[in-house]
Amino acid sequence: MKIAVLAGDGIGPEIIAQAVRVLDALKTGGLDIELEYGLIGGCAVDATGEPYPEATHQLARQADAILLGAVGGPQYDTLPRQQRPERGLLAIRKELNLFANLRPAILYPELANASSLKYEVVAGLDIMIVRELTGDIYFGEPRGIEMRDGQRVGFNTMRYSETEIKRIAHVAFQAANKRNRKLCSVDKMNVLECTQLWRDVVIEVSREYPQVILSHMLVDNAAMQLVRDPKQFDVLVTGNMFGDILSDEASMLTGSIGMLPSASLDENNKGLYEPIHGSAPDIAGKDLANPLATILSVAMMLRYTFNQEEAAQRIERATKKVLASGFRTKDIDEPGMKSVGTRAMGDAVLSFL
Ligand code: IPM
Ligand code: MG
Repeated sequence: MKIAVLAGDGIGPEIIAQAVRVLDALKTGGLDIELEYGLIGGCAVDATGEPYPEATHQLARQADAILLGAVGGPQYDTLPRQQRPERGLLAIRKELNLFANLRPAILYPELANASSLKYEVVAGLDIMIVRELTGDIYFGEPRGIEMRDGQRVGFNTMRYSETEIKRIAHVAFQAANKRNRKLCSVDKMNVLECTQLWRDVVIEVSREYPQVILSHMLVDNAAMQLVRDPKQFDVLVTGNMFGDILSDEASMLTGSIGMLPSASLDENNKGLYEPIHGSAPDIAGKDLANPLATILSVAMMLRYTFNQEEAAQRIERATKKVLASGFRTKDIDEPGMKSVGTRAMGDAVLSFL
């Protein structure tokens, strides 16, 4: 298992260090793991002038999977768009064709109080957002800011081809098939042609999955339903931009963005795995960040890219035991719990592993 490790910026290196300890433990336990390190985001800009240098691209291309920390920081906010750390993330997704972004939102019973929603609304929550990741208004052309008739005009293009919609729909139906067989496709077909096509194609693909119950929801309603009654959902599938927004919303149902992993997969289940939170520059280097989302991303990697279900579950069980034993980083802390820092949280996971 060849894994490219791209720690990135901010808290990235700290949380990745704990995930690497978990990988090392699995290696000692017999898994054939090989790690190689590379630069992405702001640290890559500092070192090479580019957020996704060619050397990183080669490393990532040759690896079976990529483990990524986070990118970005206020010191890069004034850089031209092409050099912003986020461009590194968008570039690696696009270049490696990582079109299927799986973002589970699971509420761990021990953390029910961390959610801002009522206990009964979120207790037992387990949903999966399948976000298309390499198309839509994020990448559509034309785009830009131009002078027209004496004033500046900004524009982007929302665009999806049938092929792009089909392949993400298949991923979503297959994910639903392995879960509770309910898929809700989110669009804005009452206004946007692009998402009318989305709906039409999803319905066409659904004929191959008669065992999955398909429903459709407009994105504004979906945003509301996610806080009103999130447990009505099993799997949600949507485009790049709606998925970006809804997945942040869904993460907060669980009260703790520091807990949620993600996978971004290509056609052959090669994948990039990262916590869904950002680089949190305000707490970087202070041993405060929660490494669990990154550690749980390793579990997703073992499951989706390497078919090592047992090892994946070992990590997930260890994480649950850590929470059940009261270990809490600051983002999920409560009175009466064992407050720990990033490294001590890693220690706790390793001890249960
Ligand atoms: C995410 C992030 C990225 C996105 C940014 C950092 C480019 O918000 O992974 O959700 O918009 O996709
Ligand atoms: Mg986002």
